[in-house]
Amino acid sequence: MSKREDIKVSSVEIERQKKIIQNIKQRNNMDTQKTGVSKQAMIITLGCQQNENDSERLRGMLKEMGYTFTQDTQKSDLILYNTCCVRENAELKVFGNVGALKHIKAKKPHMLIGICGCMMQQEHIVKQIKQKYKHVDMVFGTHTLHKFPEVLEKSMDETYTVIDILDSDGYIVEDMPIHREGGVKAWVSIMYGCNNFCSYCIVPYVRGRERSRSPEDIISEIIELAEEGYKEVTLLGQNVNSYGKDLKVPMDFADLLKKVNDVRGISRIRFMTSHPKDISDKLINTMQQCENVCEQLHLPFQAGSNNVLAAMNRKYNKEEYLTRIEKVKAAIPDIALTSDVIVGFPGETNEDFAETLDVVEKVGFDSLFTFVYSPRKGTPAEKMEDVLEKEQKQANFQQLLGVQNNISLQKNQQYQRKIVEVLVEGVSKNNAAMLTGRTRTGKIINFMGDKELIGTLVNVEIAEVQTWSLNGKIV
Ligand code: SAH
Ligand code: SF4
Ligand code: F3S
Repeated sequence: MSKREDIKVSSVEIERQKKIIQNIKQRNNMDTQKTGVSKQAMIITLGCQQNENDSERLRGMLKEMGYTFTQDTQKSDLILYNTCCVRENAELKVFGNVGALKHIKAKKPHMLIGICGCMMQQEHIVKQIKQKYKHVDMVFGTHTLHKFPEVLEKSMDETYTVIDILDSDGYIVEDMPIHREGGVKAWVSIMYGCNNFCSYCIVPYVRGRERSRSPEDIISEIIELAEEGYKEVTLLGQNVNSYGKDLKVPMDFADLLKKVNDVRGISRIRFMTSHPKDISDKLINTMQQCENVCEQLHLPFQAGSNNVLAAMNRKYNKEEYLTRIEKVKAAIPDIALTSDVIVGFPGETNEDFAETLDVVEKVGFDSLFTFVYSPRKGTPAEKMEDVLEKEQKQANFQQLLGVQNNISLQKNQQYQRKIVEVLVEGVSKNNAAMLTGRTRTGKIINFMGDKELIGTLVNVEIAEVQTWSLNGKIV
């Protein structure tokens, strides 16, 4: 058997979980007949798109069990926290929220509380939950997400905390239900895990090694999405440029993009995240040639200083990054570029930080995701020493935000009075009378229009420009 077949969860196991889904459905139906109200579930998702995609899987399973969804803790029969541990503040949020549920659970003992996701892949966290959060009914990790039905069934009958965590390089799970919301754009995971071990990052420890889904499974999921009326897909992976390295049939990410580009009905393709060390000329050419691949690239550079990049184990330097960006800009002149940056990595000096500002100014990103470094247990960087004081790191962070906000506004100003193609995604969050959508370059645009237009492509003339969004009118 090939290595890949070993890591795919067997269809026997998937059928077993599906059977448990049906058992739970029967139990829920019986309860509903008695009480007259259907069971309600609430999922709180923290973290990245990968976690959002996992929550869609959980929602798919819950829906088949007969649950409807609520945002109201008081009304919930089941509350699930899908957690992230990439920075400390994400973890603190979970402890705060789950702690607060203790009182609600005391009044509503039948309510079930579960915690899952990346944070649960850390031993010290699970220990803490067992000791201090005894009102939690179930805990499962990223490698046992598909066993949620089994864990839930057990926790319905037991009073102790049911725990199902696996320390593993990870699996590939196909054919479990999924429930997406919105109906216009969808996330599609193409690979799982990460092999890069950037010295600050916890992801490889909690998500396992890189493993690619087969192109057949990915394409058939996207064809189904097109048949359901979806217009846009975002291909997900921690490092999508590594796609295919573990496949039996030789295939890389550029080859996959071409295949997705051929799916009829999908008019927009995005992908994230790309690693600068792996962004090949072939990929740049493919992006340029595929008409449905959007003019947008998220390429995290993390830091501008070569000393810091080396200590981060990023495997490229500032000059190589800038050269890649130049190639991308030359091939796709109207591309929107975004990036992730960490401020205050151990050992970073003010001179190092100036190099980060230099990259930001030279590239001219459309927007940036900026983070203050947060030490993560078990990573190499945890043991590295700081040079800068906390206050100085904070000041640098604020300076970076200021510089980027000006650039973002300038970038958006280039859209003034232009006519752009917008995929209408829904009703604007801030103004129910308006519609919202995005350009191919990922800019959010609000405009007046009929709800019937949701899911279609319209042309919008930009009338007003802000740092975060644009307003316009349909032409
Ligand atoms: N795989 C992606 C994203 C991983 S996590 C990539 O390689 O870019 C998303 C972002 O969180 C990272 O790009 C990084 O900027 C940030 N991040 C990760 N670990 C962090 C830490 N310990 N402290 C602060 N930011 C961190
Ligand atoms: Fe973390 Fe680096 Fe992997 Fe991204 S590439 S998930 S930053 S280890
Ligand atoms: Fe967080 Fe896990 Fe994503 S740690 S950033 S939710 S892969």
